[in-house]
Amino acid sequence: MSELILVVEDDPGVRTTIVTFLEMEGYTVEAVSSTREALARLSQRVYPLVISDIYIDDRTGIDVLMAAKKQDANCLVILMSARGTMETVMAATRNGAFDYLAKPFELDTLLEAVKRAFESRNPGDDEVEPEELPESEMIGSSASMIGIYKTVSKVAPTDATVIIQGETGTGKELIARMIHRFSLRAGQPFVPVDCSAIPAALLESELFGTMKGAFTGADRDRTGVIEAANKGTVFLDEIGDIDPAFQVKLLRFLQEREIRPVGAAREKKVDVRVIAATNRDLQKMVDEEKFREDLWFRLNVVRLDLPPLRERRIDVPLLAHFFVNKYNGRYNRDVKLTESGLRALKDFTWPGNVRQLQHLIERLTILAPNDRIDAEAVHDAISAMEPKDGGGETLAETEADQIRRVLAATGGNKSRAAAILGIERKTLYRKLERMRI
Ligand SMILES: Nc1ncnc2c1ncn2[C@@H]1O[C@H](COP(=O)(O)OP(=O)(O)OP(=O)(O)O)[C@@H](O)[C@H]1O
Ligand SMILES: [Mg+2]
Repeated sequence: MSELILVVEDDPGVRTTIVTFLEMEGYTVEAVSSTREALARLSQRVYPLVISDIYIDDRTGIDVLMAAKKQDANCLVILMSARGTMETVMAATRNGAFDYLAKPFELDTLLEAVKRAFESRNPGDDEVEPEELPESEMIGSSASMIGIYKTVSKVAPTDATVIIQGETGTGKELIARMIHRFSLRAGQPFVPVDCSAIPAALLESELFGTMKGAFTGADRDRTGVIEAANKGTVFLDEIGDIDPAFQVKLLRFLQEREIRPVGAAREKKVDVRVIAATNRDLQKMVDEEKFREDLWFRLNVVRLDLPPLRERRIDVPLLAHFFVNKYNGRYNRDVKLTESGLRALKDFTWPGNVRQLQHLIERLTILAPNDRIDAEAVHDAISAMEPKDGGGETLAETEADQIRRVLAATGGNKSRAAAILGIERKTLYRKLERMRI
């Protein structure tokens, strides 16, 4: 597609020369001979590039420049004059002229400036072709991930207990679900329990169940999570967070495969497979006597250590494309990754690992300017996700605008919106109150 240029030049000889030359070079050129016509054209359509003489009639090329910029801040303007002075060059620069050519000039000089202008609009930051995405919902082809898949494929069809360790957001729960899905128990329930979210006093009844009358308020029998997972898999998440008293009871369950509901007289047999996960270093906790060694041995039958994303950056492009594709679909967008954007994503350290990358892309799919995820958009999104201290009043309007757009995209779902914006739900509510939404 040929690029469009508007030429503003009162001298008919110069005008014809420039137009003929640029057309021969393959550009589409419109030419006018007065500032009045120039301003009229600029109000009718957007020109990516304007080449204007400075001294034309009662108005100047600086007026053309200002009008062009006002119409479209991305419009590039090359000014030319035979009577350039310090002042006109200053005025041109201050108003954002792309270049300034002293007349007379070689046509090649003009061509160079024109080429540079168009290149600057898209400084080699081409949109990258989306990669062929695998069918899997588990993304990653790095050597370390292939190693994980091998272990998973061997252990999944067995009933062996598995302990999954890894930093936050590395995919521990996703791996646990894959193990279940590729096991003989796949048609049976997979029941996750977040041990860190349940107060120590309640964990026992949550896992083992309660008999009617066990304590005040226990007005009926309640099935525990482990019994609910019977014939299936129970996923004990954040197992490093359970207190020592309960560690003993959990150990007994792992040894005997029996549970005793709180208030029950006898044990019950259960048939469940156990997968546990933690973002702590359990071996170290054992050394520090914060985690029972015998429980650690029981859990550590097969161990999977999920690598942090910064140690498998080679997977970043595939993950990024996977999430762009996913959120383009969900939010009905057509956002593209650019080369510089991909490089910025690859260079980042990802303290929040895949989850952080996922949220960042979700956010950018909704908010990226011009539907392009380039380096600038990535950097802006990363710094926006960094925890901020109170202030930031000057950014209030941009922030309010982003909150509105994200809420609109999530159909008003505040939990999702908070996750995309990288803030806590409480914080979002506070901000909404201030915005009077
Ligand atoms: N390899 C991957 N491919 C695709 N998505 C992934 C991958 N790893 C993680 N995710 C996604 O990232 C998010 C976080 O993963 P998950 O909940 O499994 O992490 P986690 O290790 O359990 O984190 P935490 O310790 O914080 O609980 C999920 O939405 C998950 O689907
Ligand atoms: Mg988890």
